[in-house]
Amino acid sequence: AEPLNVALAGLGTVGSGVVRLIETNAELIARRARRPIRITAVSARDRTKDRGVDLSGYAWEDDPLAMAERADVDVVVELVGGSDGPALALGRKTIANGKALVTANKAMIAHHGIELATAAEQNGVALKFEAAVAGGIPVIKGLSEGAAANAIDRVYGILNGTCNYILSTMEDTGRDFADVLADAQRMGYAEADPSFDIEGIDAAHKLSILAAIAFGSRLRFDAVDTMGISRVLAADIAQADSLGYVIRLIGMAGIDRSDGTPRLFQRVRPHLVPFDHPLAHVDGATNAVVAEGNFMGRLLFQGQGAGDGPTASAVVADIMDIARGEKGAAFSMPAGELEAMEAAPTGHR
Ligand code: NAP
Ligand code: HSE
Repeated sequence: AEPLNVALAGLGTVGSGVVRLIETNAELIARRARRPIRITAVSARDRTKDRGVDLSGYAWEDDPLAMAERADVDVVVELVGGSDGPALALGRKTIANGKALVTANKAMIAHHGIELATAAEQNGVALKFEAAVAGGIPVIKGLSEGAAANAIDRVYGILNGTCNYILSTMEDTGRDFADVLADAQRMGYAEADPSFDIEGIDAAHKLSILAAIAFGSRLRFDAVDTMGISRVLAADIAQADSLGYVIRLIGMAGIDRSDGTPRLFQRVRPHLVPFDHPLAHVDGATNAVVAEGNFMGRLLFQGQGAGDGPTASAVVADIMDIARGEKGAAFSMPAGELEAMEAAPTGHR
């Protein structure tokens, strides 16, 4: 079968992981995707950097936007990061040129997901972003496909690996916040600007994407009521422990029907979680997502939420879906339906 030609823009933690995974598992990927996945071109800022992978067989582009122009590219994988700038320019150009777009960029999807999904729908190409939420956990697929027949009332969980690593390591070792954050950066969990992690913004990006999928509502990142963990002290963690709790950064979205008009609420907050709750045992860079549906009951997804291997696993699964012919986006809908789905007004409660 004809190979699916892929270009990678961004060769950092995730991009290098994708090269490693596609090379290591090439045979099984080709079998399951029903055609080989072939990297044709790669791009990053520094051509001389050692990335621990052999890039000599791929064309190099200094400008990521060049990926969207190449005739030997069917799918552009955007792993540069940032809600706007080169990532968004590349995303727009890729779709406008009739190529599929795969991204791990939750900031871009949270801010521009509707625009990109609508453009993908109009151009008959795929927009896939499984890796944008909860790293290696297939939660976008799980909610948009596996739970598709359910009315979902609540979705919540631990959505940021860096914060969870910091909180659980401080709890276990009593080490200092800044010191543990430096560890998370070394391991490739943190965002390029780690304030996105510790101020809860990254979790808010992910929560807004999950909520749009779970409730079929319009994506509203601006309506997430957000608080991070930068003000959590070692003393707070010790105090919580003495009372039978751990502290976890939890994102929660749901429909509040208490005053007649259904309202969508979206909140990110450090929570006290009792020792006997499943989320209290989610440690390190692990994420967990709980969804409650009217027929399926409670669904729990758990796994590695950050890092090269797990994130690359989600990116390559998206590429494989495209190889099998998938088009559109998880929250793209028939014309007109999106507007009808304004659904519940948002509110903070
Ligand atoms: P990273 O290690 O910082 O890598 C970013 C890559 O983009 C680097 O290769 C960098 O080039 C390149 N780049 C940055 N700015 C550029 C520009 N202006 N023009 C051209 N290339 C540019 O980031 P990452 O951790 O791999 O994350 C990539 C994306 O995946 C982000 O959207 C992030 O939020 C998302 N994500 C990350 C994880 C994770 O665990 N790390 C998990 C899920 C999603 P150089 O290498 O030459 O500097
Ligand atoms: N910085 C993010 C985190 C990467 O720590 O969860 C995964 O999206």
